[in-house]
Amino acid sequence: MHYPSPLPTFNKIAALRSPFGNPPPKSRLKPMTFYSRASVYSAFFTPSEQVKNSIDRLVRFALKRLPNAVIDPCCGPGLWLDHFALYGARVAGCDLQEAAVAAAKARLSVSRAVVAVGDMREPPPRLGSNFELCINLDNSIGHLGCREDVVSHLAAMRARMSKKCAYILGCAIREKGDVIVPQTVFERGPIEVTGGGFAALRTETMGIEPATRCERIRQWTMSAHVPDCPPLVIEQYDLLTFGIDEWKEILTESGGWDVLQCCDATDESYPIKPFTRGAGDVVLLLVPRSKEFNRKRPSMVERTDSDRRAAKSKTHATAANAQSKSKSKPKAPPTRNRASRKR
Ligand SMILES: C[S@@+](CC[C@H](N)C(=O)[O-])C[C@H]1O[C@@H](n2cnc3c(N)ncnc32)[C@H](O)[C@@H]1O
Repeated sequence: MHYPSPLPTFNKIAALRSPFGNPPPKSRLKPMTFYSRASVYSAFFTPSEQVKNSIDRLVRFALKRLPNAVIDPCCGPGLWLDHFALYGARVAGCDLQEAAVAAAKARLSVSRAVVAVGDMREPPPRLGSNFELCINLDNSIGHLGCREDVVSHLAAMRARMSKKCAYILGCAIREKGDVIVPQTVFERGPIEVTGGGFAALRTETMGIEPATRCERIRQWTMSAHVPDCPPLVIEQYDLLTFGIDEWKEILTESGGWDVLQCCDATDESYPIKPFTRGAGDVVLLLVPRSKEFNRKRPSMVERTDSDRRAAKSKTHATAANAQSKSKSKPKAPPTRNRASRKR
């Protein structure tokens, strides 16, 4: 259902291609004021023990150990960076919101953190490189203006990561025609806010905008006695979503990321779910596409029908090839390695 909106929305006009087929210009991004109220954000979104455990499980699955260097390209007040700094990792992050960056710096003051104002499409060089983990949850990537922005971001991260690394990405997989019923998705408070005052928060989904396929979110922040926070702030924003085939193209175009695991982001235990059509809000465990890395870690991702067909025809082609080769050459006995790789 499409709700006509009485509120201004940080919409995705730039996401629409021009009728002349030109690619859209790099979109101008407008940060939401909600993210500038770092104390209110932290009061509601400090990760629970359960989510931290779920994230640690994904990290261990990909890297087999905890990471030495972590980047959050949309770090907000640094809640996730703080989690990894406590493990002793070198942490770095950027955010469009100056106030959020200031809060992150204060939170991470005792660690070797580097935090700066910056755009996830081109994180500031001084954040460093050779990160073993990138963490970017809650569909923050959906705040970008268009598909090209998402490709730029994923390519920029690929360039800043070490050879063996993982990227934990929160995003939305929605197909054309998917419907989200308008409803309240989060409601909590009033709760005490560190630094003074109380706040309550309500997040509503207004459904999918048919023209852009963005999910429209309306956020209500009600507060009392929170410094620099008006009693009521209502904001609307549109979050990018892409269908499964578009995600696969984006992951390829941005230098090659493979999906090692796909989890349901709506359940804090992050149960595994298929990386497939209309999966909805998910957390993807991505690794750089490389034969070497993936051979050792078979993907837990369920294949789509088209993937299966492609794999089947490839197998047939390889088998036929092998048959014709075996006619001309005597067959070598299988080595130990080849046999164990099959298991
Ligand atoms: C849902 S919050 C995530 C905060 C953070 N990852 C944490 O640990 O809680 C989304 C953040 O993305 C930031 N953001 C939105 N667009 C951005 C961009 N293009 N570059 C960097 N940060 C951006 C917002 O300002 C906001 O702080």
